[in-house]
Amino acid sequence: MKNIVCLISGRGSNLEALLAAAGAERWAETLDARIAAVISNRPGAAGLARAKAAGVPTQVLEHGAFPSRDAFDVALMQAIDAHQPALVVLAGFMRVLTQRFVSHYAGRLINIHPSLLPAFPGLATHRQALASGVRVHGATVHFVSHEVDGGAIIGQSVVPVRADDTEETLAERVLVQEHVLLPRCVRLLLQGAVSLRDGRVHVQAGHDQEVAVAAW
Ligand code: GAR
Repeated sequence: MKNIVCLISGRGSNLEALLAAAGAERWAETLDARIAAVISNRPGAAGLARAKAAGVPTQVLEHGAFPSRDAFDVALMQAIDAHQPALVVLAGFMRVLTQRFVSHYAGRLINIHPSLLPAFPGLATHRQALASGVRVHGATVHFVSHEVDGGAIIGQSVVPVRADDTEETLAERVLVQEHVLLPRCVRLLLQGAVSLRDGRVHVQAGHDQEVAVAAW
């Protein structure tokens, strides 16, 4: 069985989308995979309740309780490795990870980011998009590399930016697509249809339309 460990910091709506897909598509039988654990760096993260409701074990590691970023990441690695994960998913995990952590999970650590990378890395991506005047925006699922929001891109979903958009309306439109994109990318990785080769993402023939989606 391939174990997936999800890291969250808050709401957990992307986690919920993964849990829903894993249940509806019976990942345990069809992909020999399961969401084995959810770990949060914040005790109040609403996503923890979503995991519990789905019967997935949860753990809280408060980053503030550790003397350094490195000490936190080492403890986090221990907690994750207890599940021997095939895949670690950052599903709204709002911490920058150390080089040591990123190297340890090279090729099996992915993140969802609310912009069309390489545009708008970092925070407040919807504000950045509106301020820049782009006509399209979206979400990206990518492998995590040593550069923040800079790893090889697995899949992207594009949405229009409308004239009357606010940060909130744009965020909402992107989020709907995140919830489709993340489970899809996880599924493709588990199937082996998408893989990391020499730092680039290889997409098997016939799967291109699943990793490049326009949602109008
Ligand atoms: C999502 O929009 C995700 O893309 C973003 O945080 C939100 C978490 O929402 N992640 C990042 O900005 C990572 N840099 P969720 O907790 O409801 O899934």
